[in-house]
Amino acid sequence: MTYTRRDALALAGGATLAAALPRGLAAAPEPAMERLVARTASTQFAPEGYPATEIWGYDGLIPGRTLRQPQGSRLRLRFENELPGASSVHWHGIRVDNAMDGVAGVTQPAVAPGDSFDYDVRLPDAGTFWYHAHTRSVEQVARGLYGALVVDEAEGPDVDRDEVLILDDWLIDPETAQIDADFASPHDRTHAGRRGNFITVNGAADFALPAKRHERLRLRLVNAANARIFEVALAGLAGWTMALDGMPLETPEAMTGSLLLGPGQRADLIVDVIAGDGETADLAMVDRQGAVSLVPLPVSGTAASERRPAPAPLPPNPGATRADLGQARPLELNMGGGAMGRLDAAILDGHRRSFRELVDANQFWAFNGVVGMTDDPLATLSLGESARLSIYNDTSFPHAMHLHGMHFREVLEGGGLGPSRDTLLMGGGERREIAFLADNPGKWLFHCHMLSHAAAGMMTWVEVA
Ligand code: C2O
Ligand code: CU
Repeated sequence: MTYTRRDALALAGGATLAAALPRGLAAAPEPAMERLVARTASTQFAPEGYPATEIWGYDGLIPGRTLRQPQGSRLRLRFENELPGASSVHWHGIRVDNAMDGVAGVTQPAVAPGDSFDYDVRLPDAGTFWYHAHTRSVEQVARGLYGALVVDEAEGPDVDRDEVLILDDWLIDPETAQIDADFASPHDRTHAGRRGNFITVNGAADFALPAKRHERLRLRLVNAANARIFEVALAGLAGWTMALDGMPLETPEAMTGSLLLGPGQRADLIVDVIAGDGETADLAMVDRQGAVSLVPLPVSGTAASERRPAPAPLPPNPGATRADLGQARPLELNMGGGAMGRLDAAILDGHRRSFRELVDANQFWAFNGVVGMTDDPLATLSLGESARLSIYNDTSFPHAMHLHGMHFREVLEGGGLGPSRDTLLMGGGERREIAFLADNPGKWLFHCHMLSHAAAGMMTWVEVA
């Protein structure tokens, strides 16, 4: 197995290290340092009769343990790398100090096997976030290096239970039950990304949530898959979307149809169990065959004689973006490449290459005609400036575009604003616009969260200075 340098999601030409120390830490007492150890492990993951599967996991677990912290606190973690390769940890959706963003080659050097790195993560927003490897992500996330990061509101909603549901799909050899180690497959890279053949919820193929009639649950959905878009729907449950990508909706949205979750995206749902005693409710997944069970909720007993009234919105977060559309700097991003695309040449490592040469380099995607990371950012914004980024997906595939360090809002047709998000799922051929306030200084990646695409060129960055 060989890797290109680009697999490391490294900044071409060598990045300077962001030297900034976490700011605003003076007043609060120093929280204790916890450990997070990345290591290999073997887990009985395939059905009985199959061998155990070798995984890479935080503390040897898939998913890693749920990190849970109060809003406004700091998370201090000593990351210890016991993997066979270098790694780093990214706090997806958290408005961290740039030096803690975990992007190897951009915000820190990758942590070598046997070494450690101390993370000190401010948690200004409450909600559902996640952490995952950000060194050779296409391989490391696929091997299991991820977990949920839940930041609790001072006063949470009135629910009976709060459950994290991390969705993933794994590409497993059906004979050996081992993870397919071809992380550079040109087919995955040029098409919809690495899609698995084995779906798990919280690391288990048979995850279920026993429940009671009229119970109210908060479900925190995280899509940790490399490329799969999960389309979820409710059966025997009545629910509301409360938050997307950690940020509360101003008004909870009754969930009537299905909800799309692209890689990296999260949704907080509140659901009431309306199925009867002895029935099975379901968080279902819609695929080509129609709706299939994803998380069954076998109902036994009754929690209350009646349902509760509809939930009030979650308290707003300070990080819900307040972009100034009138003053915003216009930016453009043209996404090209991939199979059935129109890209016939692009800049790679500073040189113009034909599509044939890009194929030889196993690089297939370009932003504004440039493949992968460059020394120059897509834009340099001054702190406090607003930006409006118009994105044209001139490819035949959907992409899940993730901005580090800040949330954005979609500028809808007619000028309204969509919810505050950190990852935008875009269909092939779509043109969409997002706006954000550049209120977090540093170097922030903007990339496709279909990790095979990111490794094959769909990666850029913005600088806030
Ligand atoms: Cu969730 Cu750059 O990643
Ligand atoms: Cu993509």
